[in-house]
Amino acid sequence: MGVGSVVVIVSILWAQSWAWTESPCRDTCGSSQVKYPLGTGPGCGSPLLSPYISCGWNGSGEQLFLKTHTGSYPISSISYGTSTLTVTPPSMSTCSSMQPSPSNFGLDWASPFQMGSSSFLLLSCRPSLSLSSPLCDPSFHYLCASLYTCPSVLSLGLPLFPPTNTCCVYSPANLNANSDLDLNTMKCAAYSSLLSLGDNPTDPTHWLYGVSLKFSIGGAFDHNSVTTKCSSCESTGGVCGFAPPSNAFLCVCKGSYNTSLDCSPTYNYNHNHDYVSDSSSSLFLSISWYVWSFISAVIILI
Ligand SMILES: *[C@@H]1O[C@H](CO)[C@@H](O)[C@H](O)[C@H]1NC(C)=O
Ligand SMILES: *[C@@H]1O[C@H](CO)[C@@H](O)[C@H](O)[C@H]1NC(C)=O
Repeated sequence: MGVGSVVVIVSILWAQSWAWTESPCRDTCGSSQVKYPLGTGPGCGSPLLSPYISCGWNGSGEQLFLKTHTGSYPISSISYGTSTLTVTPPSMSTCSSMQPSPSNFGLDWASPFQMGSSSFLLLSCRPSLSLSSPLCDPSFHYLCASLYTCPSVLSLGLPLFPPTNTCCVYSPANLNANSDLDLNTMKCAAYSSLLSLGDNPTDPTHWLYGVSLKFSIGGAFDHNSVTTKCSSCESTGGVCGFAPPSNAFLCVCKGSYNTSLDCSPTYNYNHNHDYVSDSSSSLFLSISWYVWSFISAVIILI
């Protein structure tokens, strides 16, 4: 038996096991747990959120991303209980690192996302505009003074301890109809976004930075029935998804078969046999491909 044949057999078997375990909908992405209504790709999670959420590569690992018309943003935390998630836009400034932002931050008008409870700080603005604009909330102006104590203001072209009339705290409730943080109109070079002040409100090195967003699948009529089906799908080890074009509910089970309900083996054997015929034929194909690979490997050996 030549080394070449062994390599052929091993690579065929490896390709097979890879195709076998690859599932389009997964329950984790990097360190995040992914549950309904979020999903890891097309056909996963809720059809309302799916166009905006995907699992991608962030340079060192996998991470969920939110895509809007202004960019693609890494999702750093998710709370399913409160239906909120946090994104950390790469162009957002923090105390340790400030940089001019080439683009605005915005949400798509028709998307199921809304601004949460974080506050934007617009930085390095043209002084006359930022103080007179009705968008700026003077009662939070003290946050500007704190953030402007960070030495990284130098990278915005500002002097150390710059005058705070070049900074504006922009309340999310005031975001315009397109839900865009409009740096250009405000004549501001950069922005930061505050999730919480932590234990020490005057120490910006310990503030929590990020943009908080709420997600909602709304009051759709069949929303409750999908939520019920989905919890039984998830509790039997499945991942909730949907089948275009009707977007009917799908439970994607381990081993890449889909059912209309959940992944419990007895239920699927007794009641769901017709529905899984698609996947059983792909199982059959998969097995015959496996047998075929084996036969061809034997032929190569002979
Ligand atoms: C990439 O994602 C991983 C896993 O979610 C995370 O631990 C890591 O901090 C992220 N890396 C960057 C550069 O954001
Ligand atoms: C199961 O559903 C997923 C997500 O919608 C889809 O990508 C996959 O092709 C389906 N698999 C089968 C066997 O129907």
